[in-house]
Amino acid sequence: MRAIRLQETDGIDALTEEDVSCPEPSPDEYLVRVHAAGINPLDWLLSRGMLPHLLDTDLPWIPGWDVSGVVESVGSDVSEFAPGDAVFGMSRLPGAGGAFADHTTMSADEIAAKPEGLSHHEAAAVPMAGQTAFHALYEEGDVDSAERVLVHAASGGVGHMAIQFAEHTGAHVIGTASGDNEAFLRELGVDEFVNYRSERFEEVVDDVDLVLDAVGGDVLERSVEVLRSGGIVVTLPEPPSQAAVDRYHDEYGVDVRFFDVITDSDPETLRQVAAHIDAGVVAPRVSDVYSLSKMQDALDRSAGGHVRGKLAVGLTGGVDD
Ligand SMILES: NC(=O)c1ccc[n+]([C@@H]2O[C@H](COP(=O)([O-])OP(=O)(O)OC[C@H]3O[C@@H](n4cnc5c(N)ncnc54)[C@H](OP(=O)(O)O)[C@@H]3O)[C@@H](O)[C@H]2O)c1
Repeated sequence: MRAIRLQETDGIDALTEEDVSCPEPSPDEYLVRVHAAGINPLDWLLSRGMLPHLLDTDLPWIPGWDVSGVVESVGSDVSEFAPGDAVFGMSRLPGAGGAFADHTTMSADEIAAKPEGLSHHEAAAVPMAGQTAFHALYEEGDVDSAERVLVHAASGGVGHMAIQFAEHTGAHVIGTASGDNEAFLRELGVDEFVNYRSERFEEVVDDVDLVLDAVGGDVLERSVEVLRSGGIVVTLPEPPSQAAVDRYHDEYGVDVRFFDVITDSDPETLRQVAAHIDAGVVAPRVSDVYSLSKMQDALDRSAGGHVRGKLAVGLTGGVDD
């Protein structure tokens, strides 16, 4: 089968397309024919060797964690899905994800039935971003309809899903992005838009109950300033130090939280995200689909930091995707 493999953890250029043998499912796994894989910042971060603690796999390995495809064969200990069933999900770390290949193996607690209304390209855009947005808003943030919610990088993979979840909840939703994405975000349901290139959000936004920080750096510190006392920031790029968390709590009376979708996701969250998609409450937006041979271009584009919605990789050459 075709696969993208990382030969050395020294950059996206170290990814090569190769012909490798098809994996065998273990008793608790399914063999999935990958129709599409989703692109996440995690893909290029790991490919550049930036998160070595997340990998316990010897080189070379196949990256990619978001999958949409069709079950091809079934391990002896699993029975929820049968050959021919369309499924989607996220391989868990630590270890190589394996999504950037014609086939991958996934365990029973990594997959759910693919939402019928989505193409494989769209479904592959959902698992990591959708579960992160859902978990951040509902489980860490406990958002409700009376709240004011500020989503940074609202036009990105996580942000554009979070905007839709928060709008569905009835919250007052504020999103930050560049001006090019204002119409996109208004269409997704933001009540207020802040162009981070022309204004500082802390000068035009206040009394916020929940911030979803998908940018990090000084955006976290500045976000703390716009929260009401008792408010919450869920920050995603990296865990804040305990000293910073304590200072934000003592000086501002706010709670800064981090969670990791890799360790905190579960099949129930994926099924809940799928149910919201089936109900028409949220929908992923895929701005471009790349072929497997253009993987480096896709990862370079993601690393540029300005993708609208999601990028996907199509594996079937336009057949049933
Ligand atoms: N902790 C976890 O479990 C977890 C899970 C998923 C993701 N993450 C992390 O969360 C972050 C976001 O992930 P993602 O997949 O949503 O990323 P992404 O899709 O690459 O985000 C791209 C978006 O960010 C916007 N953006 C860039 N700089 C901005 C700024 N200063 N202010 C506001 N918007 C800005 C861009 O809008 P413009 O083009 O308009 O600039 C673009 O639409 C990444 O650091 C990722 O590693 C963490």
